[in-house]
Amino acid sequence: MNTKTIDWANLGFQYIQTEKRYISHFRNGEWDEGVLSTDGNVVISESAGVLQYAQTCFEGLKVYRLEDGRIVAFRPDLNAERMVDSAKQLEMPPFPKERFLDAVRQVVLANLDYIPPYGTGASLYLRPVMFGSSAVLGVKPATEYEFRLFASPVGPYFKDGVKPLTLRVTDYDRAAPHGTGHVKAGLNYAMSMRAITEAHALGYDENMYLDAATRTKVEEAGGANFIFVTKDQHIVTPRSSSILPSITRRSIMTIAREYLHLETEEREVDLDEVADFAECGLCGTAAVISPVGRLVDHERTIDFPSGMEQMGPITQQLYDTLTAIQHGRLPAPEGWLYEIKEQ
Ligand code: PLP
Ligand code: COI
Repeated sequence: MNTKTIDWANLGFQYIQTEKRYISHFRNGEWDEGVLSTDGNVVISESAGVLQYAQTCFEGLKVYRLEDGRIVAFRPDLNAERMVDSAKQLEMPPFPKERFLDAVRQVVLANLDYIPPYGTGASLYLRPVMFGSSAVLGVKPATEYEFRLFASPVGPYFKDGVKPLTLRVTDYDRAAPHGTGHVKAGLNYAMSMRAITEAHALGYDENMYLDAATRTKVEEAGGANFIFVTKDQHIVTPRSSSILPSITRRSIMTIAREYLHLETEEREVDLDEVADFAECGLCGTAAVISPVGRLVDHERTIDFPSGMEQMGPITQQLYDTLTAIQHGRLPAPEGWLYEIKEQ
């Protein structure tokens, strides 16, 4: 592909095949040394663990080109650690953290032309994924696995960029109390396909999932955590053992306290109190911070005071600070920007 033809400022969030990806195989009890490959296709057994029993997990992280030309990944060490947790939960052999970071470096350096220029609003999204590749028939873990890390330049996850979203409270459950909601298992997303397809067909941008046990507490969206702002400007985010521990959300809570001097609360959030919040947003690598203007809970519609035209003022401050840190315009806390340079 000729990268000169990419319209960086108008990219959406979709797969664009890039030049090289990193591949490592787990066979005979160990990961091989790994290679870069131009082959974007995978050949596996028709009975592979991933195809039969969804034995797969993935990650998502972004790489930015800064104004001074440096190239950085945002907190990739946390993605590496979360992928280890996901692998363990799915009885897969964890891919070592240092090797994950090396794969990030290799893939970025092999696809330099695909890193969007500074100021376009786009970034290079990295998708590490691993899956059971050997054949199984009975329900048990595969014996062989493949780890891949590929890159795709992306723009905003939601098509209108930072315009406030409309969500609905869904009647479907995403994750069970002692299930896999806290890890990035592909199966969590398979669970959400019907809910998101229905939501889109009805004109909603995303779903709000509730806790499966009582259906009274806010969990998360299909691809992002929630943050709320109280009328006295506290940042509130749901605590639950069945939601993904978002790296963006953890970063926002630090930014709220240390950069904006706001109080933060990570606690259970009742659906019944949502109407009292001043602002609501979704946060994640793909979503960054996307404001929510309206939440429809069956017959009840909650219109947040921040409205449908723009982000609420505190959400805007969080967004501006987070993106300034990610793009090197504000000093980042120690270790948040992982610089990628040729060694
Ligand atoms: N929750 C879900 C279900 C997600 O898929 C994501 C995306 O990764 C997030 C939350 C946000 O997590 P992070 O900020 O680590 O990207
Ligand atoms: C991400 O934000 O990286 C995710 O994996 C979310 C996904 C729904 C695109």
